[in-house]
Amino acid sequence: MAKELLKKWKSVDSADLYGIKEWGAGYFDVNDDGEAVVTIPFRSGKVAVALGEIVDGSRARGLGMPLLLRIENLLDAQITRLNESFRKAIKEYRYRGDYRGVFPIKVNQQQQIIQQLTRFGAQYNHGLEAGSKGELLVALAMLTSTDSPLICNGYKDREFIDLGVQATRMGYNVFFVIEMLGELPLIIERARLTGIRPNLGVRLKLAARAGGHWSESGGDFSLFGLRTTQLVDLLDTLKEAEMLDCLKLVHYHLGSQIPNIRDVRHAVHETARFYADLAAEGAPMGYIDLGGGLGVDYDGSRTNFVHSMNYTMDEYCADVIEVIMNVIDEQNIDHPTVITESGRATVAYSTVLLFDTLEVSRSEPHPLPEKLPPDSHEMLLNIEEVLHTLSLKNLQECYNDALYYREAVRDHFKLGSITLRERALAEDYFTEIMRRMTALKNKLKRVPSALETLDDAVFDVVYGNFSVFQSLPDSWAIDQVFPVIPISRLNEEPTRSAIIADITCDSDGKIDRFPDFHDVRRTLPIHDIGPEEQYVFGVFLVGAYQETLGDLHNLFGDTNIVSVRINEDGSFDFTNEMPGDSIGGVVSMVNYEPKTLLRMFREKAEQAVRDRKLTVDERRRILETYELSLRGYTYYKR
Ligand SMILES: Cc1ncc(COP(=O)(O)O)c(C=O)c1O
Repeated sequence: MAKELLKKWKSVDSADLYGIKEWGAGYFDVNDDGEAVVTIPFRSGKVAVALGEIVDGSRARGLGMPLLLRIENLLDAQITRLNESFRKAIKEYRYRGDYRGVFPIKVNQQQQIIQQLTRFGAQYNHGLEAGSKGELLVALAMLTSTDSPLICNGYKDREFIDLGVQATRMGYNVFFVIEMLGELPLIIERARLTGIRPNLGVRLKLAARAGGHWSESGGDFSLFGLRTTQLVDLLDTLKEAEMLDCLKLVHYHLGSQIPNIRDVRHAVHETARFYADLAAEGAPMGYIDLGGGLGVDYDGSRTNFVHSMNYTMDEYCADVIEVIMNVIDEQNIDHPTVITESGRATVAYSTVLLFDTLEVSRSEPHPLPEKLPPDSHEMLLNIEEVLHTLSLKNLQECYNDALYYREAVRDHFKLGSITLRERALAEDYFTEIMRRMTALKNKLKRVPSALETLDDAVFDVVYGNFSVFQSLPDSWAIDQVFPVIPISRLNEEPTRSAIIADITCDSDGKIDRFPDFHDVRRTLPIHDIGPEEQYVFGVFLVGAYQETLGDLHNLFGDTNIVSVRINEDGSFDFTNEMPGDSIGGVVSMVNYEPKTLLRMFREKAEQAVRDRKLTVDERRRILETYELSLRGYTYYKR
């Protein structure tokens, strides 16, 4: 037996295979028992807790799968990382300005998140960004430190402006960011009426653009921000209204998840030039707000691929400070306070979606005949021959032939010259060829690139107890790749590959794009799942944008949610529990009244008794099940 076959699979091999250390940012790993763990940095050292242990604790409290797990320590840790990275860069470059982070509420509006963020972030005066009236109301109530900036972006009506102006009077550090010139007369009017001098900012439409999914957020085609000529109009209007002294901030947002640090540098440079010239025009300035865009390395490749980023948080902070300093020092003006509206990078790590497996549809060939009868269809004989001639030497040729003959069999089937059973037999031959090829391919030192996708040719379909549309909307809408791994058995070699289907009856309800170092892989290596096994998958880095963008497709509602705080001694506390939606709750969101539904169904059951289709006892039982289901979880129990 080859040496490598004797080598026992270890947890580190799984960590390698799934790239956990690369995308886990030091927060996720695998322990020697083969369990996925979350690792929390404490002053006294790192503490690791198995996710399975938390899942068991949650189940014992009545909150089963699917489960959204919020790990509070990770949100704190990312706020700390961001603020400390900027502090480090400021110190290193001897920058004479400050840094303030603001969290854009839209990235995760959930009360527990905002509450924790404002409480923990108060030590850094970490603020909030509101892009709507609703978000402004949340921010005003939740901010714990009035020194923290409250950045008001987006369209603003009179009520919005009045609230912001009054909040300024109360001592809040509110900035109205002018996104379009039309907002200005109203702000000037309300400021005059109240006698309050609001802090004003202006959103720039930069020439700079970033690559990635959100490249249209920057450049000439971006929706928001003032063009340079409009900026001049703004200056003139403010001067005329004797309010130029209110203009203190420039802002841009190039788009979320910027993969390339070069794009960040270009945009910061251009903005710093605008800043310097606005100061030269006589505006007091003081703040430069770089918006969002700080990335999350979802595939761990550290490249400028859309799901990755070719820089670290430390490099981002250092580059921002360096570029601003270079531009500003040339103009001989004070260093501004740098603001970033980093949402994704702050909150993505803290949430993990966990779901169990309901069923596996295995791609397994039936036992093949020793030899096909010589009068079998020519295409069947051809595909049989491929199986028998397959060897290490002709892998590529056999792969091409197998694909060709499978296609030919399908064509003949359409024409009626191949029967259903012959087609099934050909598919079995194909699956067996792919299975044997995969085993042979793994013996090769260097795999030809055309064979790299071989693992994707034969795969199982795993049915997961979750809804992509509710819990991972970006995976469906924009092909966002999230790291997915089984959370146990990681000290065993995964011997099968699979795609994951959700439980909506929608052909888009699946995960078939997984992180890979070179590209995106179509299948995920998994273990041979036993029929009674509780095989749980974790989808990681899902704390940003997923929760409120999710919808009720097929009437699957919010999942159960638990928040945990991990303690220094390795114990953990459940700090918050929220049962997911019931079916009754979800149907009422689409305007059904659960009581009315029950009444209507009861009448139908009674009619069935009258028609002698049901006994009275059967009527009682079906009504009990109906009522119980209305109160129950929208997801499935095994
Ligand atoms: C104005 C503004 N600021 C900040 C953000 C947050 O961006 P990110 O999550 O990439 O940090 C967004 C989101 O796209 C935004 O529109």
